[in-house]
Amino acid sequence: MRKPSSPASVPQHVAIVMDGNGRWARKRFMPRLAGHRQGVESLKRCVRACAARGIRVLTVFAFSSENWNRPEDEVSGLMELLGKALAREVPQLHADGVQLHFVGSRSGLSDGVRQGLDEAERTTQGNQRLILNVCFNYGGRWDIAQAAAALAECGEPITEASLSGAMALHHVPDPDLVIRTGGEFRISNFLLWQSAYSEFHFSDALWPDFDEAALDGAIADFASRERRFGQTSEQVQQDGEC
Ligand code: IPE
Ligand code: IPE
Ligand code: MG
Repeated sequence: MRKPSSPASVPQHVAIVMDGNGRWARKRFMPRLAGHRQGVESLKRCVRACAARGIRVLTVFAFSSENWNRPEDEVSGLMELLGKALAREVPQLHADGVQLHFVGSRSGLSDGVRQGLDEAERTTQGNQRLILNVCFNYGGRWDIAQAAAALAECGEPITEASLSGAMALHHVPDPDLVIRTGGEFRISNFLLWQSAYSEFHFSDALWPDFDEAALDGAIADFASRERRFGQTSEQVQQDGEC
């Protein structure tokens, strides 16, 4: 179990619901896809900023299980954008020491996109500077259900530990800080299991506008919290003293 404590000033694992691309584009009378393109630029900036601040793991929500319900041209545009971004950005991410993981169901993705994801993961698997988990075709409910199904298939007992080990983010600790941009106060089926004791920060910034200063604001907010993990404040403060 995680030991209660005042948080270190920099979270080790930051997870982000990158919301607001569509509104960013609409405000400029541009198509929604232009917002998603700008969202990729914002993600590149965020990856660099996280690495520079000593954050070890960044997990981002890029396409949810429910985003298939959007208009067909937006969905196909997002698939195309993923394919292009992979081809364009993986060499630089690799050079920068980023270890890439794509988290989510691979069903429903084209063979080309699937191959691109596998190749990016293989190329970057030995990198240690920053782990970047891109949740694509991901849902927290899907994750819990697929983990339970995998355990049931092997006849293994279902416990908190076995479920955690079968879940898609088993290779990283739970997120310390979950950020949602775009001004909404909901989780939208993101890391339902893993965010049990995360600190939450909600930003009004639309994702393409979420810059280094906004990230620093989120980190400062995190640093001001007392994480108690069920204990009392007095217990946490006593533990911090010894
Ligand atoms: C988040 O931005 C990106 C995806 C869900 C793919 P949105 O596209 O949801 O942007 P808004 O919320 O409509 O502004
Ligand atoms: C959550 O944003 C999913 C991603 C950022 C990928 P949505 O825009 O899909 O969430 P809702 O529909 O507003 O809850
Ligand atoms: Mg949205």
